[in-house]
Amino acid sequence: MKKVFRIITVSMVISVLALSLAACGTGNTDKSENRTGVGNDSGSYGGDTGKVIEIGIVQIVEHPSLNTIREAFIERLAEKGYVDGENIRIDYQNAQNEQTNLNTICQKFKADKKDLVVAIATPSAMAAAGALTDTPVLFSACTDPVGSGLVKSLDKPGGNVTGTSDAVSAKKIMELAMRITPGIKTIGALYNSSESNSISVVNELKEYASENGLEVIEATVTNTSEVQQAAQSLASKVDAIFSPIDNTVAAAMPIVSQVAQTAKVPVYVGADSMVADGGLATYGINYVELGRETADMAIEIINGKNPGEMPVRMMSEVEIYVNKKTAEAIGITLPEDVLNEAVQVFE
Ligand code: TRP
Repeated sequence: MKKVFRIITVSMVISVLALSLAACGTGNTDKSENRTGVGNDSGSYGGDTGKVIEIGIVQIVEHPSLNTIREAFIERLAEKGYVDGENIRIDYQNAQNEQTNLNTICQKFKADKKDLVVAIATPSAMAAAGALTDTPVLFSACTDPVGSGLVKSLDKPGGNVTGTSDAVSAKKIMELAMRITPGIKTIGALYNSSESNSISVVNELKEYASENGLEVIEATVTNTSEVQQAAQSLASKVDAIFSPIDNTVAAAMPIVSQVAQTAKVPVYVGADSMVADGGLATYGINYVELGRETADMAIEIINGKNPGEMPVRMMSEVEIYVNKKTAEAIGITLPEDVLNEAVQVFE
């Protein structure tokens, strides 16, 4: 009996929502009417009005960093009074690193008329932005939102898409690499060639290499099952491996570090979680902070802000993360000054 009653309530809420959103109007061409925030004049969501905000979260794959972001996002929302199962309802979907799953999930979110779609990582964000033109799309941790075609500019995204970026500097990571293992002449770039987030970082690596007389050898993959072989092919040819903030490599990071440790090759990476999973070091951002920042943007959108008018937020602080266990396994000593500077040493 209770269940039936709840279902009726939910469908009633949905139709009220649909009506009020339709009244709000989300014309995409006329700028003056381009209002994609989910809040509207008939009252804001999540307050005493009893409206439940429907949030779809799409994540390309489960790896530690993306899970950290999602958890921090949900926790921050709750801290701010938006609690899953109470005034908001979160529908979390993991695409298991398959493009077709991404498309299916985003089409479903469209059919479900979600109030807000949160897309974690670039591949998910590209699928969400492609499928949804009227629904606010909030991306999280997209390394190069402009290069990936998600927004026109960081300051003025335009359209219905904005979010947070985890852009890091390949040059800074390479400078750190040179402090830890000086004398690198050849560097292997290990990444998924269809991840635009990785391509922009690898391009910067190439710039660094040409400025500093290094040779870059690339090994690209298209899915996690190819990572081991690609890492092996590099390990015998290079002085060090560089892997950017690549979702496919991150999902197979324990295998990469195994291969690299056997070959005694240092692996420099783009994110702290990849250091935790056996990479040697990075200059990276704090993904808990990024998840929380994404939640703060979500709240602004819920309360009526237009994503197109919200600048993309970057994480300005980068910190050193190193793995002492990995250093020991490949037979190198981490310099004292690097250890002192590090915000976290995994052992
Ligand atoms: N920046 C990645 C993207 O744009 C997503 C990401 C976040 C990531 N944290 C990571 C990838 C850690 C690898 C490792 O898609």
